[in-house]
Amino acid sequence: MIILDGKKTSNDIKEEITNQVKSINSSLGKTPHLSAILVGNDGASETYINAKVKACEKVGFASTLVRLPDNVSEEELLSEVDKINNNQDIDGLIVQLPLPSHIDEMKVTEAIDPKKDVDGFHPSNIGRMALNLATYLPATPAGILELLKRYNVETSGKHCVVIGRSHIVGSPMSVLMARNSDPGNCTVTLTHSRTQNLKDITRTADILIVALGKAEFVTSDMIKEGVCIIDVGITRVKSEKTKSGWQLLGDVNFEDVKEKCSYITPVPGGVGPMTIAMLLQNTLLASKKEFFS
Ligand code: GUN
Repeated sequence: MIILDGKKTSNDIKEEITNQVKSINSSLGKTPHLSAILVGNDGASETYINAKVKACEKVGFASTLVRLPDNVSEEELLSEVDKINNNQDIDGLIVQLPLPSHIDEMKVTEAIDPKKDVDGFHPSNIGRMALNLATYLPATPAGILELLKRYNVETSGKHCVVIGRSHIVGSPMSVLMARNSDPGNCTVTLTHSRTQNLKDITRTADILIVALGKAEFVTSDMIKEGVCIIDVGITRVKSEKTKSGWQLLGDVNFEDVKEKCSYITPVPGGVGPMTIAMLLQNTLLASKKEFFS
């Protein structure tokens, strides 16, 4: 069994980006700039945003974090988005999700200039992705593709089963794995909460991508020998095993399945760090005006 080491791979990518930032600095006299909007004080969102800002610093990007209170109106949030859309010094913009329930997430996502949409969530960028046109790919699916590529995991002709149909991970992942590209060219089954006989389907997977947000959901009886498992889940649970009293668990019971897998991503240190690396990659592309010229 080979561990798909997202931490090491993301550090390699960050080093590559750092070198490119230096060359953009000297050739174009500019620094890639990511702006992030965070609404409210959700603990998980705070953690993700802080990690993103820190990663920007590490590779030499400029970053701006706009914090808005929980009770900000949709109109005020849209006006912040508009300001950043029109700020020529800012290359990429993300609005951390989820947003409070009084705000229409899709309306906000659609308000982001597609050229600055480094999350790849805007409907026009999702459309470009589905059509295999150059665009920003959503960071978590892009990070998974990068891991599969860098570890030379064969995907062509394989059966890829995705559990979870979120707009951020499961749905775009299923599209990307089915595209005529490498990695890609899989026969894809997208499963979700209404899927019947899930175990019968997962047992036929050559590549199993799990993104449903239920700790240790996948067990060894649900997989076949030699499967490649990508675990996107990350749930914080109370634990007596750690000093902090907390432990991070994936959607896969790692200890139970590890002997049966050909490849597996650990939690933490698998998909999570790759997501941030790909956000940086998208911001670099935005600063180079790589698409939509
Ligand atoms: N919430 C969970 N994942 C993400 C992400 O990749 N981008 C944004 N903007 N919000 C998220």
